[in-house]
Amino acid sequence: MKLRRWIATGVVAVATVATLNALPATAGRPYDPAEQSLRTLGQRHGLHIGTAVDLAVLNDPADPRYRQLAASEFSSVTAENAMKWESLEPTRGSYNWGPADELVAFARQNNQSVRGHVLVWHNQLPGWLTSGVADGSISKEELRALLKKHITTVVSRYKGKIWQWDVVNEAVSDPWDNPPTLHYKGFWAQHLGPGYIADAFRWARAADPKALLFYNDYNIEAFGSGDPANDKTQFVYDMARQLRAEGVPIDGIGSQGHLGTQYGNYDTLQVAAALKKFSGLGLATAFTEVDVRSQLTEGVQAGDSAEINPRLQASAANFSVLLRACLADRHCLSFTVWGFTDKHSWVPGWFSDPPEGMATIYDENYQPKRAYHEMKADLIYAGPPYVLPRVPHRPRR
Ligand code: XIL
Repeated sequence: MKLRRWIATGVVAVATVATLNALPATAGRPYDPAEQSLRTLGQRHGLHIGTAVDLAVLNDPADPRYRQLAASEFSSVTAENAMKWESLEPTRGSYNWGPADELVAFARQNNQSVRGHVLVWHNQLPGWLTSGVADGSISKEELRALLKKHITTVVSRYKGKIWQWDVVNEAVSDPWDNPPTLHYKGFWAQHLGPGYIADAFRWARAADPKALLFYNDYNIEAFGSGDPANDKTQFVYDMARQLRAEGVPIDGIGSQGHLGTQYGNYDTLQVAAALKKFSGLGLATAFTEVDVRSQLTEGVQAGDSAEINPRLQASAANFSVLLRACLADRHCLSFTVWGFTDKHSWVPGWFSDPPEGMATIYDENYQPKRAYHEMKADLIYAGPPYVLPRVPHRPRR
């Protein structure tokens, strides 16, 4: 069975190479892979290249380049905010499906897959829910029922249209939280206990048997950060192994990939090792929210190239680390950037003390940055024997 699958993918790979060689020269020039889009270059590896999409910008007639690039460069899209609970149900019982529906329609028009983001998270919850819990008018039993209803309603609406769902997001604490030992943090763990995680996956599976169900988190790019007893990646790994052992329908681990050039970060071998360890559990993996921000020092803001250049290079190098590690794991199904242009990145709004930015692959004028070119090079100059086409994943019952 395994051998047959390997042969089958081998045939596909050979066929793809044959197609590439047979590609006609463009406008009299020989075929140049560097002129292809990211999505086209990802195809040879069976890798989806995705982006988060801001629906307001997508619909802004004054900013047409955003829509063009979202369609042409990417084969997967994620709603940056439109599928979050506060966006979908701002008032209890009345849903605002418009923007989320539009994203799904956009993906369909452009032959793209959709990563659903996000079903259970402690942030961007509607005010009626958090205040109801705070003032005691929503009991724990009701809260659990509301969560089940939310998951069932949202997953059912998009049944068959979502490739991967981020079912649970950011459930695990960081070493800087209180208490500093790793634990299940936030609103849901506090009110329902950690059992909500398994429940959420089961409810999502019941509503859509075909979507791949992911746990998604940040700072899990590699093992071995600091104290081994307090390693977030290890904690998430142990959680995933436990969920699998209990037969919980979890299909994948999403590593967000929000990095900063001011930190040490990891090398490609460390990141690849982590992905392989997760996929060793029978899970798919994905990078789900990649961006690599930098501190905007006075020099950077004044246009000093001696300060700007090293940041552009470090950002590109970190995009490259994550992409090459993903390419190296045949179970790493998609590589999604969290916005593709500095014009509309969440970073400057969220990291302002000190100010940070320059986190994406296109600058504010939609000019591709070094990070974009490095991503292309990584996709072009990769292949057998160490980079092989993705292995398809089927949802776990
Ligand atoms: C961010 C969005 O980009 C912002 O527009 C919004 O104001 C806050 O949330 N981890 C996640 C994403 O899983 O949903 C977050 O998105 C970024 C961090």
